[in-house]
Amino acid sequence: MTDRPHIDSSKVQQLYAETHKGYSALFTKQRSGDNFCFNRRVDVVRELAPTRILGLLDCAVGSGEVTGSVLSNSTVEKVVVNDFSPHMMSLARSYLIPKSIEDSIPAILFNQDDIFHYLDSTDEEFDCILCIGLIAHTGRLDELLSSLRRRLSNNGVLLFQSTLANHPFVALHRCLTQKRYQRKFGYPIAYYTERELLDAFARNSFTITESRKFCIRIPFGDKISKRANYHCERILCNVAQTWGSECIYKLLAI
Ligand SMILES: C[S@@+](CC[C@H](N)C(=O)[O-])C[C@H]1O[C@@H](n2cnc3c(N)ncnc32)[C@H](O)[C@@H]1O
Repeated sequence: MTDRPHIDSSKVQQLYAETHKGYSALFTKQRSGDNFCFNRRVDVVRELAPTRILGLLDCAVGSGEVTGSVLSNSTVEKVVVNDFSPHMMSLARSYLIPKSIEDSIPAILFNQDDIFHYLDSTDEEFDCILCIGLIAHTGRLDELLSSLRRRLSNNGVLLFQSTLANHPFVALHRCLTQKRYQRKFGYPIAYYTERELLDAFARNSFTITESRKFCIRIPFGDKISKRANYHCERILCNVAQTWGSECIYKLLAI
């Protein structure tokens, strides 16, 4: 089992209360390394999502761009988006409601809850679940995977993103910033190595059907020069398919 320090969810909520205003800007076409990586995240999720989905759950919708890309590209019958931050939920509503009208998407159910509580209290099943950008802020990898497994229908897929702790740039960045991050925000980011992720998927009866790595994330790249860092990410896009610092796994319940 992969133990991590406990993450106090009230601190995570506080972080998003303070920073939500800048979150949507990460998905604009501005030339920075961060923007490049968030847009790659959207593209990879869209590419990996099934084209026909009966029930879609986004565990942590954030400002809605990731969910929106799936809704634009796939035929979806029922959509539940969850997030425990009222601030992020409000961004998601502003982004997704006009989009759902424009693209004739069925009504979206906005659910504001802690994901662990939601997964354990609902008996709904989904054939596609998005868990993108969440594990870093919850830890409790096995607990989350086992709850997600129970809500996935037969042949359902889970798209699961994590930053990779064994990537040398992630390891360096973490080593240089984790104490400061914890002092500032009151909780540590939960990072997992590829080995830890693969073992946890197997323990919780998931098999990997596809995985995509992306983004090199040069430490402090945007602090040095947003534009230069953007161009580095763009040029190294193919390299990142093998040496990327983030991975999205497409998991099938077995
Ligand atoms: C990094 S953002 C990711 C949002 C979106 N999935 C994306 O990729 O852009 C993390 C989101 O997770 C939400 N979150 C963190 N912990 C949560 C929890 N325990 N339950 C529900 N939402 C949570 C935060 O409010 C925030 O909106």
